[in-house]
Amino acid sequence: MTAGPTREPIDPVRFMSNYSTGAMGAALASEALRRGHRVTVIHGPISEPLPLRVRRIAVEQAIEMERALRAHARAADVVIMAAAVADFRPARRARHKLKRRAHGALILEATPDIIARLPRCHGQLRVGFAVETDRVAARAREKARTKDLDLILAQHVARPSAAQRGPAAPFGRTKIRAWLLERSVAVRALGRISKRRAAGVLLDKIEALWYGQHNHANVA
Ligand code: CTP
Repeated sequence: MTAGPTREPIDPVRFMSNYSTGAMGAALASEALRRGHRVTVIHGPISEPLPLRVRRIAVEQAIEMERALRAHARAADVVIMAAAVADFRPARRARHKLKRRAHGALILEATPDIIARLPRCHGQLRVGFAVETDRVAARAREKARTKDLDLILAQHVARPSAAQRGPAAPFGRTKIRAWLLERSVAVRALGRISKRRAAGVLLDKIEALWYGQHNHANVA
């Protein structure tokens, strides 16, 4: 699985990123270990601790995450793309520190869509996330289709109140409002739940799909 944000460098001292802490990835890794699975986590700079028994691979930028995932995904039965990959990066990284007084426009380009471009191994399950401010289920359904995902856990981004400092849900150790989407199955609203419970629901579904698929293959 992947977890946490990526950082896209602007110059030697600055970067672009997002509010992800790795909390969802840590909850998923703990739950998967508890169920006896072997877990590798490819993660950006996270503030949440990961369980000791996971194999961890630290990366920083989206392109490094893509490279690491390509190297390790071939051996995986399931790929869970829980990372909040930075969607944009500066088109070029300045070699010298940009000067405040000489500021100008930053030219951005999209980062590679890591999960959409990952070669699909036979029988492997692909799970993604979608974080949206509106039309959550519809947008997640569209992402499942364009990224060719078997499952998506969609989460609503709460609007931060005027008094609030820092990010609102779903970032950090907070309850989330979530939906589970499976190919050609009606969307399931999970309501407001903890990340730990959401991880349990997602792993129940992953195991049901995986063992269903493999028992079926044995019978055939
Ligand atoms: N994702 C990815 N590579 C990217 C961006 C996202 O693999 N460069 C993955 C995320 O890890 C997540 C899924 O795609 O599992 C959806 O991520 P999201 O940020 O919601 O979608 P985007 O494709 O980035 O679309 P947008 O930001 O325009 O909504």
